[in-house]
This record gives sequence, structure tokens and C-alpha cells, in this order.
Amino acid sequence: MNNKPERVVETLKSIPGYLKPFQKAFPGSKDPITFDNMALAIEVFEATLTTPDSRFDRFLKGDRKALASNEKEGLKLFMSKGCTVCHNGVNVGGAGYFPFGVKEVPAADVRPADDFGRFKVTNTAGDKYVFKSPSLRNIELTPPYFHSGKVWKLEDAVKIMGSSQIGVTLDHEESLKIVAFLKTMNGKQPSVTYPILPPNSDSTPKPLLK
Ligand code: HEC
Repeated sequence: MNNKPERVVETLKSIPGYLKPFQKAFPGSKDPITFDNMALAIEVFEATLTTPDSRFDRFLKGDRKALASNEKEGLKLFMSKGCTVCHNGVNVGGAGYFPFGVKEVPAADVRPADDFGRFKVTNTAGDKYVFKSPSLRNIELTPPYFHSGKVWKLEDAVKIMGSSQIGVTLDHEESLKIVAFLKTMNGKQPSVTYPILPPNSDSTPKPLLK
């Protein structure tokens, strides 16, 4: 966010309206406005942004009618084709890093040659083109897909996954069924009330302009 830890703390401390809420959130702390407390506050807020009670969740809880038959067939394909190797767990993804292009290198616009993914962080040759397998919850609501943001149709994303990650060509019917299943993972969206932020003081650092 074009900022530095010390500046974040300096900014928060310069705004009188932040002191009380920080004292309230971190009782007993002599100096509650710290970088770590700021991060913790954002983290616990983000932890509330869950989207439970999708039709798939209801199905898992035993409501067999929560999914239509083509969606159930899509779920079967999702499991039998091996999508669950990388997209699994409570978020149906997000739990690990995997190469994008296990079986076949995706087209250059879908996986740009100069986007090395995790390699940029670890500098380890084996991490070239390695990305986090994203959660597939709410996937219908979050196009465009992949890091390149070049794929807008969910069916196209599913077909690309088939060829690049598991080395199979999914036909139109199979990919439509998988898409139908994926769309059952739209959950109840959180409602967020935006706070009115406390005003700056004269000593509040101004944004750094390039
Ligand atoms: C070997 C691991 C692996 C397998 C198997 C796999 N995926 Fe993925 N999937 C990934 C990774 C890694 C990405 C992220 C690529 C990127 O962001 O550029 C991804 C991205 C996606 C996306 C786009 C998500 C987004 O928010 O942009 C969809 C949809 C998807 N996978 C569905 C599937 C389906 C359906 C299957 C089975 C046919 C499958 N995946 C199999 C690892 C895998």
C-alpha cells in the first residue's frame, strides 16, 4: 500500500481518534498503537469475512436436495478428475502452492512468460510458475480468472485447468457440469458497515507521491 511500518504507526498515532479504539481493543497495553496490533486488528476483521451456507455447504450437511443432478455430476467429475488434489479443504483451495502448467504449459496470455509466481519470493528454481491454488468458493462472482486476469468465462478456466493441471481434455458437457457444481459454492456474503474514519491532525503524514 505504498507505505512503511514506521509511517503506518506514525500516521495512526497522529490521529487522536484512534487512541481510544486501540486502547479498547488491546486492554492493559501501555502503548496499544503498534504495527503488530494494527495487523492483528485487520486480521481479526478479515476473519469475519466468511461466506457460509452455500448450497454445497448445505449438501455436505446432509441436505441431498441442495444440489440438482447435473451439479452432483459436476461434483463427481471434480473429484474423479483430480481437481481436489489442489482445490480441497474448507475453502476448496487456498491451502498450498502448485505449479501452473503441470502437464501442459498454458497459453502465454493465460500464464505470462514473465510472471514467475512464487519464484519471485523464494528464488528457488522449482518455484517457477508456482502459484497458490485459489479457493473456489464464490468463484462465479470473481472473474477474471488466474493471475493474468485474462480468462473471463468460468468454462474456459475449467478447460484450461483440465489440460494444464491434469492432462485431460474436458469436453463441453463435462466442463459445463463442473461449472454448474462450482456455481453452487456462492455463499451468504458478509455485510460490512463502513466506519467514518477519525479526522487527521496537522502532524499526520501526507501520502507519498511518486
Ligand atoms: C496441480 C494443482 C491443480 C489442479 C489438479 C487443479 N488446479 Fe485449479 N488452480 C491451480 C492453481 C495453482 C491455480 C492458480 C493459477 C493462477 O492464478 O494463475 C488454479 C486456478 C483455478 C481456477 C481459477 C481461480 C481464480 O480465482 O482465478 C479455477 C476455476 C480452477 N483452478 C478450477 C480447477 C478445476 C475445475 C480443476 C479440475 C479440472 C482444477 N482446478 C485442477 C491448481 C490446480
